[in-house]
Amino acid sequence: MSPEPPSPQPTVLVTGGAGYIGSHAVLALKQSGYNVVILDNLVYGHRDIVENVLDVPLIVGDTTDRALLDRIFAEHEISAVMHFAAYIAVGESVTDPGKYYQNNVHGTLTLLEAMVAANVKRFVFSSTCAIYGIPQEIPITEDHPKAPISPYASSKWMVEQILQDFDTAYGLKSSIFRYFNASGAHPDGGLGEDHSPETHLLPLILFAAMGRRENIAIFGTDYDTPDGTCIRDYVHVCDLASAHVLGLQYLLDGGETDVFNLGNGNGFSVRDAIEVARQVTGRKINVVEHERRPGDSTVLLGSAEKAKKRLGWQPQYPELSDIIAHAWQWHQRRHGM
Ligand code: UFG
Repeated sequence: MSPEPPSPQPTVLVTGGAGYIGSHAVLALKQSGYNVVILDNLVYGHRDIVENVLDVPLIVGDTTDRALLDRIFAEHEISAVMHFAAYIAVGESVTDPGKYYQNNVHGTLTLLEAMVAANVKRFVFSSTCAIYGIPQEIPITEDHPKAPISPYASSKWMVEQILQDFDTAYGLKSSIFRYFNASGAHPDGGLGEDHSPETHLLPLILFAAMGRRENIAIFGTDYDTPDGTCIRDYVHVCDLASAHVLGLQYLLDGGETDVFNLGNGNGFSVRDAIEVARQVTGRKINVVEHERRPGDSTVLLGSAEKAKKRLGWQPQYPELSDIIAHAWQWHQRRHGM
């Protein structure tokens, strides 16, 4: 159940609202009665999604543009910021770290400084389980040691630390969400994942199922897991979105800065995911075995007990078959196959 917003409805600035997780959060916010303004530079976001599905104001620009941010806070009565805008490709962050620190750290810092100047003190942040690095124990809880192994993950961990300091110095309160593997699509069919280039496992499996690519490559078959392939915890994007609305409500109700894992606690190997996709789509999916991809952890599996207890979060779509079915519906519609 979505929490009730206080009245009059607060306005939330959503950065990256034209992107994958951001767009689902915008819809969830709207459906919970909030007003939304999107800031997105459209480097990876989709204008058509904002105009045709979300129907909220879109400001095209960058979080590194302080003058633009000051104008936004002056022109709109913003109560809180949800911050999704970030670069997310782990592999690219290794070869082009400056791009990641510039956008993900400097962009966020600029946004936070503009918020403090405008006296906006509520922030919902999109972090990642990648900050835990190679897990020392499974399932991973929030107090697991942080040992990022990519500049992408480091950039998110740096921001988490900045947020603690901004709370101490300025009383800026944050709900920080560390996602496991965001996946799936809105069951209504209008929103979903559309990255270019696509690097994530589930959409690539579905591209193989629909013939957009010849096969799916399994990156590594000699891991120390029952079938030799990596295990991940896939969490439905609509469940991430509902957590963000709860995290916002928590802050508006006076909650303190806190951090929450978001995952289902169910592990699926790469081969499991391919098998579930075969069952859901009824299509043939060709597989090739490939060497390991650098930087991949063997198992990433999280405990989201804290989000459930403190925020009342309850995933609506914990089953991988539902996650894949919704993604399949979206990709067929988006790519017309
Ligand atoms: N994989 C393949 N073949 C592919 C693509 C992926 O075998 O063509 C494997 C990967 O090696 C990995 C698993 O599928 O074992 C999942 O890979 P994804 O790229 O879908 O997801 P990751 O777990 O690497 O990364 C995702 C997000 C990151 C986030 C991370 C946290 O992309 O932003 O989850 O786990 F940090």
